[in-house]
Amino acid sequence: MASYKIAVIGGDGTGPEVTVEAVKVMEAAAAKFGFKIEKTEFDFGGERYMRTGETLPDSAIEELRKFDSILLGAIGHPDVKPGILEKGILLKARFALDQYINLRPVRLYPGVETPLKGKGPDDIDYVVVRENTGDLYSGAGGFTLKGTPGEVAIQTSIYTRFQVDRCLKYAFEYARKYGKKARGKGKENTLGLVGKTNVLTFIYDLWERAFHEMGEKDYPDIRRDYYHVDATCMWMVKSPEWFDVLVTGNMFGDIITDLGAITQGGMGIAAGGNINPKGIGMFEPIGGSAPKYTGQGVINPLAAVCAMAMMLQSLGEEDAAGKIEESVKVVTGSKLKSLAAGKMGYSTSEVGDMVAQLVAD
Ligand code: IPM
Ligand code: MN
Repeated sequence: MASYKIAVIGGDGTGPEVTVEAVKVMEAAAAKFGFKIEKTEFDFGGERYMRTGETLPDSAIEELRKFDSILLGAIGHPDVKPGILEKGILLKARFALDQYINLRPVRLYPGVETPLKGKGPDDIDYVVVRENTGDLYSGAGGFTLKGTPGEVAIQTSIYTRFQVDRCLKYAFEYARKYGKKARGKGKENTLGLVGKTNVLTFIYDLWERAFHEMGEKDYPDIRRDYYHVDATCMWMVKSPEWFDVLVTGNMFGDIITDLGAITQGGMGIAAGGNINPKGIGMFEPIGGSAPKYTGQGVINPLAAVCAMAMMLQSLGEEDAAGKIEESVKVVTGSKLKSLAAGKMGYSTSEVGDMVAQLVAD
């Protein structure tokens, strides 16, 4: 029987409440689909930082390397200056574990309200593959004359051909396996590159050349599209049904996936995975730590549950992942009044129970 070692970092605010529900669902899936889960909890986050000054020490990274996957609740504490925990925990894990893919499905589930007029689950159903290690996130830059009227700040976007190629390869493979044709939802599998070749004539020139070279040579079965990032934002609102799999750099990917998340019903449902295809992934609900709802049992755990399903898919437990997603659709489609905290008509744990029950059935 397959057995997986899972590290659970509940983190801050409502993070621990939602990861408990995700683990509940995972345990139901393990029992149903015949695999074993061995979970270990870690207390990294704002509280620990305030107590010890530690975010995610190198020793913790070494510890995390022993696991098959990581589930992260949320990072962000009202008493900690913004940036410290994000950089010290989230970005540190992404970089240290070389999780070079950030996979963010934009999928509207049945019964979920979208701000996009006239659009339904068939229209909002695509995935963004965001490169997760380079670009403006590289940390290259600095100040001169800091604090003076002549101050200069520089922050440089960096991409190597290696980084671009490995991301594109993942995206093409993903499109082949999970694109609209592969899922029986369209005539072809399509990968769209999101860039800005009209202005960022170095970075996105590299991406565009690499994209077409790889596509022509290794993925002739996959249709290739190109969109400027600004236009992408318009189409994400006006015609999201055009999209299948999108691939883009780190900064654009960060921005467009927040737009995507709101079109799929917001932070209560949006999930993402930080993936190293040959290493350890870290899966998380995209929503923040929602401090004002902490401890009330009103936060929506479905994003964490969906993150858990993505984790199981990455571990090769496709049937379990599919069953969880189907169960979430039943819950959004016929049970919850709303996805919003406090307005679901059920408590956090009742929502987890419902999904777990459906998975077990
Ligand atoms: C995200 C977040 C992070 C990012 C922040 C918190 C560092 O916005 O996961 O999208 O920019 O990647
Ligand atoms: Mn973001």
